[in-house]
Amino acid sequence: MSDQAQALRNMILQQNKPSSNKGTRILTVASGKGGVGKSNFSLNFALSLQKLGQKVLIFDADIGMANLDVLMGVPAPYSLYHLFQGQRSIHDIIQLGPGGLHFIAGGSGFRELLHLTEEQLQHADREISKVQGEYDLILFDTGAGLSREAERFIRGSHESIIVTTPEPTSITDAYALVKMVSHSHPDAKFKLIVNRVLDQREGRQTAEKMDLAAQRFLNVQLPYAGAIMDDPHVGKAVRRQTPFSLAYPDCQASRDILATARSYLEIPHVGDSTRTVKGFFHQWLNRKRNL
Ligand SMILES: Nc1ncnc2c1ncn2[C@@H]1O[C@H](COP(=O)(O)OP(=O)(O)OP(=O)(O)O)[C@@H](O)[C@H]1O
Ligand SMILES: [Mg+2]
Repeated sequence: MSDQAQALRNMILQQNKPSSNKGTRILTVASGKGGVGKSNFSLNFALSLQKLGQKVLIFDADIGMANLDVLMGVPAPYSLYHLFQGQRSIHDIIQLGPGGLHFIAGGSGFRELLHLTEEQLQHADREISKVQGEYDLILFDTGAGLSREAERFIRGSHESIIVTTPEPTSITDAYALVKMVSHSHPDAKFKLIVNRVLDQREGRQTAEKMDLAAQRFLNVQLPYAGAIMDDPHVGKAVRRQTPFSLAYPDCQASRDILATARSYLEIPHVGDSTRTVKGFFHQWLNRKRNL
């Protein structure tokens, strides 16, 4: 990218101001079983929230298997790795995706983050502090499975959206994830999304069953946050490398995700002022360094 183009890009990114002054909300999207639609949900949920006036940054936290850039069809030359290495600023590594969506790519080389110098850490600290308050919401799309990595992201977030499909294997794995996290982190807040439903009733029934089991056996609330229909437009959009809500804005999945985003914004979210973007990364990095 030429210096001029880079300067222009940075200017656009820095003009970013949140729609409210409630502080940046940190949200993690996770699942038990893989391939249930987390990345497609995260991307299109972020775009829908943006459509509703929110400033959103989406972060590919599927480290090593990152693919948000592939779903968006946007090459991602920089990732968090470049920031921590001290080579780039936070605004350099935030890329502009389709629909003007701001995103940070996953990338590789994260093992090397275990050996950062004090100077590199200070650079990262300064840079990360800059995004605090620039966004209404930062959304982390995590990798599949009951990984310690996903658990770490959940632990640092204000809340987590657990994605499941109505299939029993997906439900039991989602339940196992909630059980694992709530065991070590009883204050974790969850919401449930049921993806690939045949109709809305199937979504509600799946969510009710899970919420009842979580309340009874884990003493955890698992409030229903919406269902997305199984829709062939999703697969078509993935092949076109365009988010489905942009490629097919009127398809059922796009309408469902917009409705989900709308109801998400209608629920008052009690802020936790002790959680900051910088604190989130500190926690994540410290744990990594202690591995
Ligand atoms: N609502 C839907 N309707 C139809 N197909 C869907 C839907 N959601 C997801 N899919 C299909 O499932 C595939 C996997 O989706 P996605 O990559 O978002 O899952 P994931 O949970 O992020 O996977 P991983 O665990 O590997 O990160 C998509 O490529 C798409 O074909
Ligand atoms: Mg994914």
